[in-house]
Amino acid sequence: MRFNICSTKLGDLTDDAVVCYVTEIKSIRGPYLKSLNEATDGGFLKVIEAEEFTGKNGEIVSFTRPIGLATGRLLIVGLGDAKKLCADSFRKAMGILSRYKGFTQCKSVALFFGDHGDAVYYQAAVEGLLLGAFKQLDYKTGDSAEDKSRLEYLSVSTGKSAWIKRAESAVERGRVIAEGQILVRELAQTPAADLTPRKYASKVQKLARKYDFSCRILDEKAIAREKMGAFLGVSQGSEEPARFLILRYDGGRKSQKPIVLVGKGVTFDSGGISLKPGLNMHEMKQDMAGSAVVVAAITTAARLKLKQNLVGLIPATENMPSGHAIRPGDILTSRKGKTIEIINTDAEGRLILADALDYANEFNPQAVIDIATLTGASLYILGYAGAPIMGNNDKLLDRISDAADVSAERVWSLPIWDDHRDQMKSPIADLVNSGGRPAGTIAAAAFLENFIGDWPWAHIDIAYVDAEPSGKPYIPKGATGIGLRLLIEVISNWKKL
Ligand code: BES
Ligand code: MN
Ligand code: ZN
Repeated sequence: MRFNICSTKLGDLTDDAVVCYVTEIKSIRGPYLKSLNEATDGGFLKVIEAEEFTGKNGEIVSFTRPIGLATGRLLIVGLGDAKKLCADSFRKAMGILSRYKGFTQCKSVALFFGDHGDAVYYQAAVEGLLLGAFKQLDYKTGDSAEDKSRLEYLSVSTGKSAWIKRAESAVERGRVIAEGQILVRELAQTPAADLTPRKYASKVQKLARKYDFSCRILDEKAIAREKMGAFLGVSQGSEEPARFLILRYDGGRKSQKPIVLVGKGVTFDSGGISLKPGLNMHEMKQDMAGSAVVVAAITTAARLKLKQNLVGLIPATENMPSGHAIRPGDILTSRKGKTIEIINTDAEGRLILADALDYANEFNPQAVIDIATLTGASLYILGYAGAPIMGNNDKLLDRISDAADVSAERVWSLPIWDDHRDQMKSPIADLVNSGGRPAGTIAAAAFLENFIGDWPWAHIDIAYVDAEPSGKPYIPKGATGIGLRLLIEVISNWKKL
């Protein structure tokens, strides 16, 4: 899609369709609404009086051949309550519009922003448009050309020519961020056979070359040299060898310590010998979603040239049952030297993260954030509506919460108490990998806490928010890519803790 930023007046926009935004209304007041009513020969007032259009977010009315306008179609889109107007109002409205026939059938569309001059509005509108139009990867044979969008040219018209500059950078930022989130979705939806640790590693290496960040790949020998016994314990049951990815993007000053991002990269989680039930096991191809967020965050940061030094660490492995697999009752020795009694081989994410978190010490980080589809128990905390966060530094957790308010991705902070730490103690080793059902999400974080160094740390559990069950305005059913906008927001506003 080609973007063009202008300050062309509503009447002069020549695109196939022009989109106008309206907040909730009961009557026609003010010059803007009056001009829309005149262009539609009073049709706009009629749909308002009939309550066919009230301006609720995502409502759309379409008028062809508007009077006095150069365009062939006027699309009036609701933004919702004016008092609650925010970036997400635009993101949501555009998400719905992105699948609207009268929109997708046009080759060129102009978005008329008028007085809405906030840069985050332009950005969010582009994000909503691209994210809402996302189609799941499919392997269907035959034509599905019907639901293909014809949209090629998108104009963004600002109310003032002085706003063009900031609209240009906001639109570009929105496009790059949406593409980052879409990258997460695509990786997460890829069948595990097409995204083995080796295939995943070479995909990421290609991205690194294209977007100019570095990617080192440790094979199993190198991983063994690093003594990552917990990580290797998980991978030993699989025919597919594990890989450990080290990504680096240096956008900051040389002296600046990096922010380290760690992502769970389980390319398929069968549960191992503690095999999962068959129902929904296919969804476990998405158990690398956390790592995909890390890959996309580094890619996006490189594309936006953010001024921070970043490291991405990704332990990538399958969790499979076999004659070589770890057994419940086995003891693993982690890179840090701590011993772990395996209670349940399905609690594998924390094992691979343990070694990756310990490896973060190599980079003398100023902070470490890990992101993982870690616990099924998170479904019973915030459901699909938000991600639990935990950690050792309230400032860092507050920062993530504030960023989530901006990116509209919702997180909520949970405590880690000594009771939870006690849950993870083993009678025969330093730790158990499963402390049973109580507070499963927190218990997992209490386990991870044993492997962090002397730095601020936050853990984001995205199990369940990584997949949308039914479909939302700009999040179609399937992999969501949640976490990407959040991390980019955190990194963009980063200051020393
Ligand atoms: N990958 C799963 C967590 C998960 C479950 C994510 C469902 C998304 C949807 C993780 O590896 C796991 O199996 N966790 C276990 C831990 C338990 C055995 C202590 C869980 O949550 O049941
Ligand atoms: Mn598991
Ligand atoms: Zn898992």
